[in-house]
Amino acid sequence: AAAEKGGHDWFMLKEIAEQPQAVADTLLGRLGEDGRLVLDEVRLPDQDLRDIDKVFVVSCGTSYHAGLIAKYAIEHWTRIPVEVEVASEFRYRDPVLDRSTLVVVISQSGETMDTLMALRHARDQKARTLAICNVNGSTIPRESDAVLYTHAGPEIAVASTKSFLAQIVACYLVGLFLAQIRGIKYADEVAAIVEDIRGLPQAVEQVLAQMEPVRALGRTLADADTILFLGRHVGFPVALEGALKLKELAYIHAEGFAAGELKHGPIALIDEGTPVVVVVPSPRSRESVHGKVVSNIQEVRARGARTIVIAEEGDDDVLPYADHVIRVPRTPTLLAPIVTTVPLQVLACEIADCRGYDVDQPRNLAKSVTVE
Ligand code: G6P
Repeated sequence: AAAEKGGHDWFMLKEIAEQPQAVADTLLGRLGEDGRLVLDEVRLPDQDLRDIDKVFVVSCGTSYHAGLIAKYAIEHWTRIPVEVEVASEFRYRDPVLDRSTLVVVISQSGETMDTLMALRHARDQKARTLAICNVNGSTIPRESDAVLYTHAGPEIAVASTKSFLAQIVACYLVGLFLAQIRGIKYADEVAAIVEDIRGLPQAVEQVLAQMEPVRALGRTLADADTILFLGRHVGFPVALEGALKLKELAYIHAEGFAAGELKHGPIALIDEGTPVVVVVPSPRSRESVHGKVVSNIQEVRARGARTIVIAEEGDDDVLPYADHVIRVPRTPTLLAPIVTTVPLQVLACEIADCRGYDVDQPRNLAKSVTVE
């Protein structure tokens, strides 16, 4: 069994370590030399894609968090409105769908019943459908008009890691591809971002090389009864994912919040010693969200929080208010989740391991939920 895990204690750790490869393989052959995207597998006629006036992204669990990130990227690059919804809610509220709606369903397994039923509903309503999936030939891609496979390789641990990063990458590809086909005016930015995307496997590698202090930090958090996660912009879904991982693996109460909402409620939860993990946007992000999040760190710390800050290399503004700093490489804002998610996976894994739980097979959970 140790050999199967490639020398790691858990499949989850092995799969975390495989993330640079998962990202690289998902990009393989899809970024042309000239900066254009090559997604021949997306067999929807260009004209249909040009006619799309609304996108829904529908999925469950970790795949839902990939969808939340997709919204920021697709809207920014294409100017098409994007709605994101958990599959179990989608079809029950009679969403407005027609031929010019693109419904993107994201599923690692391709067998999640909630997501499959949402897909069928979308098809009944004549929407175009595109699956982002990790398992070849599974039900969801078979029933979709088009499919973009993630090439993360088989994922054994129940908690999703490498397939999540691959899903986010696939969402970027979809956004950039739509932008390309529609010839939108962000063409220069799109070409530049394609270059940045090529650097992502290396960036993930860099994060992984610095995980020992994160594991040590995890060991100090094993007795926490609650851990809060804050993020803003694409850091918000990352905060949700960090909290989900902790719930799933360590059975610790955890919540992710949009950092700007802190003052509207969650700040009341902060007590002496409450651990708060903050995903800090790049200092180069727009509209000074960076400064606002730094203020949030200061605010929770003033109320007794123990602050664990995930910040870009060179961002020293966080230092006065951070009890622990976890560094990630400089990354364009929309691509940052690829690097900021990784320490949160490692943290949850280490805390669960410390508490003596089976990291790969958490209680009450299944890798793929095939009932509604
Ligand atoms: C289950 C798993 C989660 C996963 C979710 C969606 O709840 O435990 O890790 O994110 O299903 O799975 P899917 O295969 O559709 O991505």
